[in-house]
Amino acid sequence: MRDMQLIYASRPFGYDELSLAGILLQARQNNARNGITGALICREDLFLQMLEGRRDVVTSTFARILRDERHVDVVNLLSTDIDNRLFPEWSMRHDPARSWMWTPEEVAKGAIGRASDQEIRGIFERLAKEPPGRL
Ligand SMILES: Cc1cc2nc3c(=O)[nH]c(=O)nc-3n(C[C@H](O)[C@H](O)[C@H](O)COP(=O)(O)O)c2cc1C
Repeated sequence: MRDMQLIYASRPFGYDELSLAGILLQARQNNARNGITGALICREDLFLQMLEGRRDVVTSTFARILRDERHVDVVNLLSTDIDNRLFPEWSMRHDPARSWMWTPEEVAKGAIGRASDQEIRGIFERLAKEPPGRL
C-alpha cells in the first residue's frame, strides 16, 4: 500500500504549554507504533498538522484526532498519495508557527480556506528544509 499525506487545520481549545506537551507525547508514542511521521505547527490560534503513513493508518489516526476536544473546527485541507515522506525521521516534529505564515488576523479572516494546495504543502516543504528550532 502506498503512503499518503494528510494536512488539516484546526483551532486549539484551551491551549497552553502543558496541553501541547501532552498532545505531542501522545502523538509521538502512537505514531512511532503506527509508522506515522509528520509535523505539527502550533500557535495559540492555529494547529496545522501533516500526517504521513499508510492510508489506513493515517485515516484511523485522523478519525481519532477529529473527535479530540483539545481543538475545534478541524478542516481536512489535503489528502494525497506520496512516494517520499517529508518528515521520515520525525514521529511528530513540533514547530511554533513561523513568520512566513498567515498572521492571526489573516487566519481569523479565513486565509487558510482560501490558500491553494501548493501554498499549504509549501509551508511543510519549507519547514522540512529548516533545522528544528526545538523539539
Ligand atoms: C492537534 C492534535 C494533534 C494530534 N496528533 C496526533 C497524532 O499525530 N497521532 C495520534 O495518534 N494522536 C494525535 N492526537 C491525539 C488524538 O486526538 C487522540 O487523543 C489519540 O490518538 C488517542 O490515542 P490513545 O487512545 O492511544 O490515547 C492529536 C491531538 C491533537 C489535538
